[in-house]
Amino acid sequence: MSPTDLQSQALAELTACTDEPALKAWSSKYLGKTGLLTDALKKLGTLPAPERPAYGQAINVVKQALLAAEEMKSAEIAEAGLQKSLATDVVDVTLPGRPLVQGRLHPATQTMRRILSIFADMGFQPYQSRDVETDLNNFELLNMPAEHPARDMWDTFFTTTPGVILRTHTSPGQIHAMKQFCPQPIRVVLPGMCYRFEQISARSEIQFQQVEGLAIGTSITMADLKGTILNFVRRLFGQEREIRFRSSYFPFTEPSIEVDVSWPVVDEASDRLTKGTGWLEIMGAGMIHPTVLTNGGYDPAIHSGFAFGLGPQRIAMLLHGINDIRYFWSNDLAFLEQF
Ligand code: PHE
Repeated sequence: MSPTDLQSQALAELTACTDEPALKAWSSKYLGKTGLLTDALKKLGTLPAPERPAYGQAINVVKQALLAAEEMKSAEIAEAGLQKSLATDVVDVTLPGRPLVQGRLHPATQTMRRILSIFADMGFQPYQSRDVETDLNNFELLNMPAEHPARDMWDTFFTTTPGVILRTHTSPGQIHAMKQFCPQPIRVVLPGMCYRFEQISARSEIQFQQVEGLAIGTSITMADLKGTILNFVRRLFGQEREIRFRSSYFPFTEPSIEVDVSWPVVDEASDRLTKGTGWLEIMGAGMIHPTVLTNGGYDPAIHSGFAFGLGPQRIAMLLHGINDIRYFWSNDLAFLEQF
């Protein structure tokens, strides 16, 4: 078959193609590796030398023509397919869309923000300090030298570097703040994660948040501490919620207290949580020990101050009646989506 005959035959067959598979078959029949055009090209060697250039050129012209025709046909088929689907597949534009799943703040974050905003209203500025601490700041400068029995109150995660630990409470932030601001008055709140090598239970986790509070001035008294805490708790829980102050002991405060808030429900799980008392402790606090003031650079003869350390998770539990602290880091959507 001459190149021109091959071309007319191919083009005639192409008109009959109306879908993708037919076009593919056509393409491999004429343009494929073992197609007719390749066959025709193989004949080149059998021709007398003078005829070869003209023949080669003719085959090439046919090839270009077929490629162009194939491209047009392919576009035609695609367009026809689109028209068909527009005519037959119905799109109902009045159907409501699928709702996007909306994220939200973790209840611990929500509570933290509420706490910080209440203290902001009272003039307490946020202050950040590190999670990885020195034994010096976490214990020693807080009036707990090595071997001090009170260290037992904080089961500690040690690191492989001697003297470097994960902070067991936010109180070492007191030292950082004092050293930075001394001898000016201070009013800061210090939010952050704490770590304790403890048995995990309904009331305590090995990792939890605290908010440390610190106020230093020249005439701050226990009455200021009590007023601040009372105001804070009233704003958070309302006027009616029962709270109590208990005398307590911390090496870095004197006198020391703990503050409890009444648990809102009476049932078995609550009993376990409150150890049958009906109260949940939300913070430790007290007047800063003179030794700690001195360690921070302040003169206890001139300056006095109070400090507190409260547990936002405990507060969230009291606010929402959550009877197990383990929910907070369990990543359970059924729990999280309630907030
Ligand atoms: N740091 C103490 C704790 O974690 C709480 C506390 C803070 C007590 C500040 C007194 C003053 O138990």
